[in-house]
Amino acid sequence: MSRLLDPMHRRLLDLLGVPPGAHALEVGCGNGSVSAWLADRVGSGGRVVGVDLDLSLTPGVTGVEFRQADILAGPIAPAAYDLVTCRAVLHHVSDPAAAVANLLGSARRGAAVLVIEPDFLPVSVTGPATVRQFWQGWLAWSRDRGIDYFLGRRLPQLLSAAGLVDVGATAETALYNGGSPWAAYWQQTIRQLRSSLLDSGRLRSEHIDGFLACCKDPGWWTQTIAFTAVYGRTPDS
Ligand SMILES: C[S@@+](CC[C@H](N)C(=O)[O-])C[C@H]1O[C@@H](n2cnc3c(N)ncnc32)[C@H](O)[C@@H]1O
Repeated sequence: MSRLLDPMHRRLLDLLGVPPGAHALEVGCGNGSVSAWLADRVGSGGRVVGVDLDLSLTPGVTGVEFRQADILAGPIAPAAYDLVTCRAVLHHVSDPAAAVANLLGSARRGAAVLVIEPDFLPVSVTGPATVRQFWQGWLAWSRDRGIDYFLGRRLPQLLSAAGLVDVGATAETALYNGGSPWAAYWQQTIRQLRSSLLDSGRLRSEHIDGFLACCKDPGWWTQTIAFTAVYGRTPDS
């Protein structure tokens, strides 16, 4: 995931500005690759804190202060950071509005905030029909688990309502073909989840196998996720 998404995340962070000496926070940092990049940008005069429920992927990452914490439990440190970012986390939490309040509560006045979440709108127009059926089953399976793969479209409103100002938002969608890194990502993900998907009764083998066959075909092009990025600043006063 980080190989596929870090270039977009870094580009958007650069547009917002990551000044040397800044104190930055990444929530749901996963393997810490974005936190490590931020640490390089803020330099020795700055500070980067990477937070996740599960820090098992971060050993070996240097220059970042990793903390195990739940963003639903409260701000990581009240009004402490000049930059707060979070990617592909809020669609997993039970109360995204509370998580957003805690993200903004961790930011200083006038801090930059960037949140990126998925919206699976593009799968509604993908083909062939067996792939659309695969995604319908996938989305039903994820809804059963409390995952909101349509959070992207609600994100600007959520952040504005929480007090973010100068809000801007974009969504970008990778179009990829069979044999590409995105196809490999889905093949690997589905290998890991196959039994859960089938046991749920939401998907049948032929839908999964139809999608996996497309993922091997270089002539098949598709799109899956509109990654919705919302950015802005906390009020100055
Ligand atoms: C889909 S992964 C995304 C990881 C990384 N941000 C990326 O985009 O590559 C979601 C991450 O959010 C973390 N996470 C989920 N709920 C969380 C919570 N309530 N507080 C902090 N981290 C959370 C998970 O442990 C996981 O590492």
